[in-house]
Amino acid sequence: MQKGFTLWFTGLSGAGKSTLANHLAKELRHRGLNVEILDGDEVRTNLSKGLGFSKEDRDTNIKRIGYVCKLLSRNGVIAISAAISPYREVRDYNREQIGSFIEVYVQCSIEALTQRDVKGLYKKALAGEIKNFTGVSDPYEPPLKPEITVDSERQKEEESLRTILGYLEEHGWIPHAQSSRTQAAQRHA
Ligand code: ADX
Repeated sequence: MQKGFTLWFTGLSGAGKSTLANHLAKELRHRGLNVEILDGDEVRTNLSKGLGFSKEDRDTNIKRIGYVCKLLSRNGVIAISAAISPYREVRDYNREQIGSFIEVYVQCSIEALTQRDVKGLYKKALAGEIKNFTGVSDPYEPPLKPEITVDSERQKEEESLRTILGYLEEHGWIPHAQSSRTQAAQRHA
């Protein structure tokens, strides 16, 4: 059976967590692995519907996501979480609960995020129209020792994906991708 584990993305809104999670999931599935994504925006429409953005509600949201990741991971699935998860303590709580936990810090400066502003939220937050917005008027505690750090401001997405896949292969979480030569040889065997 494939080895289950949790890949826990953390980073500010718009840093690229969901995009990376989706592209990574696609690649892992292509390699024949079972993957499930728990995306912050989506979880908030079902599992965490009704929760807001106070510290208490965010912690509840993150613990719920962590709980589902634990169930999936222990059943051989690769669970990928893509939520801001701004508080270190609750991320570390999930790490303890899950055990097979790999934290991926998606770094990006507020300046770059404000310029990109895909959802138009930073403009509103800076204008004071959204209260408690992470990184603007609410805290974000970066991980102290993430297993993986990627920088969506300075790196191309491809490079970040290679960094993550490389880590997972090197640490034995996923099998090494077969070279195209090996694959061709196997097809002709
Ligand atoms: S978390 O803090 O509980 O981990 P989560 O990832 O689920 O957050 O949701 C973040 C998303 O909610 C953001 O990408 C953004 O689209 C939206 N959002 C709405 N209000 C806020 C806010 N005050 N702070 C951060 N994100 C917000």
